Amino acid sequence: MHIDNSTVVLGIESSCDETAAAIVMGGNDVLSSVVSSQIDIHAKFGGVVPEVASRAHLELIQPVINEAIQLAGIGAERINAVATTIGPGLIGALLVGVSAGKAMAYGLDVPFIGVNHLEAHLYAALLEEPQLPFPAVVLLVSGGNTLLIHMTAPGEYSLLGATIDDAAGEAFDKIARFLDIGYPGGPAIDAAAQQGNPQSIEFPRAMLHDGLDFSFSGLKTSVINYVRKNPGVASHDVAASFQCAVVDVLVAKTLRAAQQVDAKSIVLGGGVAANSLLRSEMQRVGSAAGFHVALPSKAMCTDNAAMIASAGWYRLRDHGPSGLNVGAIPHLSLTGSTVRGNRAGRK
Ligand code: KG4
Repeated sequence: MHIDNSTVVLGIESSCDETAAAIVMGGNDVLSSVVSSQIDIHAKFGGVVPEVASRAHLELIQPVINEAIQLAGIGAERINAVATTIGPGLIGALLVGVSAGKAMAYGLDVPFIGVNHLEAHLYAALLEEPQLPFPAVVLLVSGGNTLLIHMTAPGEYSLLGATIDDAAGEAFDKIARFLDIGYPGGPAIDAAAQQGNPQSIEFPRAMLHDGLDFSFSGLKTSVINYVRKNPGVASHDVAASFQCAVVDVLVAKTLRAAQQVDAKSIVLGGGVAANSLLRSEMQRVGSAAGFHVALPSKAMCTDNAAMIASAGWYRLRDHGPSGLNVGAIPHLSLTGSTVRGNRAGRK
């Protein structure tokens, strides 16, 4: 099959709590992108409930796909391939998207492409900035991952560093729950921090001068211990000081990585890349050091299907289709292997 700028890919995403579909032409031209979030459904539980997520995906998947096709102003027969997230994520949630994607591909008689959700995050910046200067260092920060990636071209990447315990987003979510300031935790801390003083409490910056790996579990414990010892402390000061500690480490290590590999660009990706302090500090520090800093829009940082369709287009062009026998892989890692441990199944 010949893949070019007119090749239209339907992308489908259902790995966690967003049901999403998008139509992307030629890898970068987003004709439509529909995201239906389940935040309200899970809010009363304080976190994503896997079984509830699967059932909601089941109800939403077909209407969301139909809406994406309609908004793109095309007929379904114009779709040349279907790309779907196969992992990592929640098994029941993934299965809904994978089944829908395969059924669409089979029904339309077009190729099916299984996409790694983490790899797709690397394409989000390219969607908005197709001329992104390479090599790039990507900081991928989400609810289940904190990764520093050296990307020399689309589809060519290697891992420079990762968290050795909690992911950055996980730390945001846990601290927000502990402070009882709202759900989801990241945006709640971000908002509370606007009212607080980031210098009010000196929380630890773990492994700041030590390699390119991260650790956030000590910071989490330190925040919890501080609040227990100082029950009168204002939540917004804790939120601001905690956020500042996380961002300091993320920015310092990304900058060091970019200098080490002589990168031209620094790119942010993943849900935590929507954080306002991380965005402004990365822009300020990265530009001052001479790097091009790519900050995808917040809609592209969080889960969406346009990045799945884009990654699918590149994968189809460079590696061909997946075949309909590929299944959902909840523990899929960035390098294609499967991961185990307490964060397995989270992205
Ligand atoms: O990539 P993503 O949408 O999906 C999963 O990892 O499931 O990332 C979600 C994570 C959550 O931990 C959420 O709290 C965090 O991204 N997040 C933020 C912000 N917006 C979302 N963290 C900090 N500041 C934000 N503004």
